[in-house]
This record gives sequence, structure tokens and C-alpha cells, in this order.
Amino acid sequence: MLAAADLTHLLKTLADPTRLRMLALCGSVELSVGELSRALGMSQSRVSNHLRLLRDAGLVSERRSGTSIFVRMAPDLGGEPGKGVWDALRAQLDESPEHRRDLLRLERILGERERRSAELFEHLAADWDKIGVDFSTGQARQRAAACLLPRGLVIADLGCGTGYLARGLAGLVTKVICVDRSRAMLAQARKRLEKERPDAQVELRRGELHALPLIDGEVDGIVAGMVLHHLSELGPALREMRRALKPGAPLVVLELEPHAEGWMREELGDLHLGLEPAAVGAALRRAGFEEIAVEPVDDHYTPRRPGPKTTASASLPLYLVRARAPRDPRSN
Ligand SMILES: C[S@@+](CC[C@H](N)C(=O)[O-])C[C@H]1O[C@@H](n2cnc3c(N)ncnc32)[C@H](O)[C@@H]1O
Repeated sequence: MLAAADLTHLLKTLADPTRLRMLALCGSVELSVGELSRALGMSQSRVSNHLRLLRDAGLVSERRSGTSIFVRMAPDLGGEPGKGVWDALRAQLDESPEHRRDLLRLERILGERERRSAELFEHLAADWDKIGVDFSTGQARQRAAACLLPRGLVIADLGCGTGYLARGLAGLVTKVICVDRSRAMLAQARKRLEKERPDAQVELRRGELHALPLIDGEVDGIVAGMVLHHLSELGPALREMRRALKPGAPLVVLELEPHAEGWMREELGDLHLGLEPAAVGAALRRAGFEEIAVEPVDDHYTPRRPGPKTTASASLPLYLVRARAPRDPRSN
């Protein structure tokens, strides 16, 4: 229950046509003091004086942002009597020509506000990547993207090398298990991932593709990037992948089209100079995978020969093969 003095104060504050017009304007939208003054066609100092009275009566709330003050009608209008009186006065205000003029001016002001913001981006677009794309860790964007994926995903990156693919996955999925047979490559992957994805759950496991250090059905997905061409036989590795995947879980292979860069055998350890997509598809089918699909990718691998020469020595087309472990694990 409001004390009599407070009620008198409230009624006095509302007994002023300018203050009623102000309340009506900032009832549905937050306005800067400047915008409110323009909508009312009054000086800012006059508006500020009225605002002080409205604020003291608990009828408006203020928010400071930079050098501007934004105001809007207090959600509960200082309590029950305030709300009741306002409801009664509000209907009359709709009939007032001054208030109708205020609303027209307000519409123009809000339109300008939107236009200014939209036009800014028309000018900023060309420079935006220099102005507004940097975040301190990148975690926020990654978390936002991760929210779109099912929770709890565990993904294996096989033949992870120095962790390029794992870096993209870490933080997006719940856990990445990086597998490689090379201690040195795993050490580089650890260094990269600790630096670039310090909060992500990443496990590094040393092992061979034909004897994966993964238990049956441990992972929800596998990516095998640029590694199958290092294997003398695909069958044993693909059967291992099938074993480690949950029923129905996906496998993605990223591979090189057959090519003629012989130096990659000696200098990068490639056993095959690329692989025929159809041969990879057939090997997956033999290993029991389902829903096998080859997809071209608009990208080329551009390796550099080790040694002092650092320019790219080749530009090799890539492709993806997607497949799914059988939903029924007993199927052949
Ligand atoms: C060309 S790198 C690919 C690295 C990474 N996946 C990428 O896309 O950047 C090939 C990696 O596969 C690993 N690798 C090759 N044969 C393997 C095998 N049989 N078992 C486990 N790792 C293997 C190598 O040690 C090397 O780190």
C-alpha cells in the first residue's frame, strides 16, 4: 500500500501532459534522451527535467551506454497505483493530436535508426574483415557452432599427422581421439592442439590403422584424411574402422586423385600416388560399409618438397568418400 504522500507525488508527476506524452513514447521502445527530445519536438534540457521527475516517481528506468542515456517506461510503473492511473490516462492520450504527431516523428526516428545501422554495413563490408572479425580466443564462435551438433560426440582422426583436421573438430565435438603411428607427428599435434584448442578434450593415441587403439564401437565418427594412400592394403584398416565405429556411424575419407608426382613416394612416404575413388568405394563395400558416396571437393593439395625449396611443387585434386558403418553390427 502506497503512503498518502507517495500517492500524491505519483499523481502530481502524472498530472502533466508533457510527461504523459513522454511515458507513452518510451512505453514500447527504449529511446535515447536525444531521440525522445526529437520525437517530442522539445529541447533536451526540458526533456531531462521531466525525465528526472518521472524517474524519481519510479515511472521510467534509465540505462547509460557510452555517452548516451537511454530511457524506457518502468515495467511495473512504480507499482499498482501507477499502473492503474496510467491505464486510465493512456486511452485519453490516444485522442490527443499532439501525441499523434509525436508518434509520427517517433516512426521517422526509428526508421532512421534502422537505416543508419543497415547503411553502415553497406560501407563497412569491404573492410569488415579488418575491423570486426577478431575474437580473443575464437571459443565463442566455436561454441555457437557446437550447439548445433548433438552432444557427446566422440570423433577419431586417423593418421592425424600434426592435427590439422583435429584442430577443426576440437571444441566442436565433445572429444577428438587423434591416432597416428608416428611419435613425432603426435608430438607436433599435441603442441598445436594445446596452443590452439587449450579447452578442448583431445586424446592422442599412438597406433596403426590396421590395429586401431580404439575399443569396439568407441567412436561416433571417423575422419581419415590423406592417410589411405600410405597403406599397402586398405582392407585391414577399413575393417578396423568399422569395428571402432558405433552401428550406423559415419566415416569420411579425404583422398588424392591418382597423380604422377613420383617424388612424393620417396620424400613424403606415399605408397600410392593417389587412389582411384572407385577403388576406395569398392574397398569400403567389401569391408561392410553402407551408403558409400564419392564427392568431389573444390580444393587441391599443394605439397612442398622438403628441403630449402619452399614453393608448392604440385596441385593435386582431392575427393571425399562418405560411408556409414552398418546399422546392424552382425551384417557382413
Ligand atoms: C599425410 S599425413 C596426413 C595428416 C593429416 N591427416 C592431414 O590431413 O593433414 C599422413 C599421416 O598418417 C600417418 N600414418 C601413415 N600410415 C599410417 C598407419 N598405417 N597407421 C597410423 N598412422 C599412419 C603418418 O604418420 C602421417 O602422420
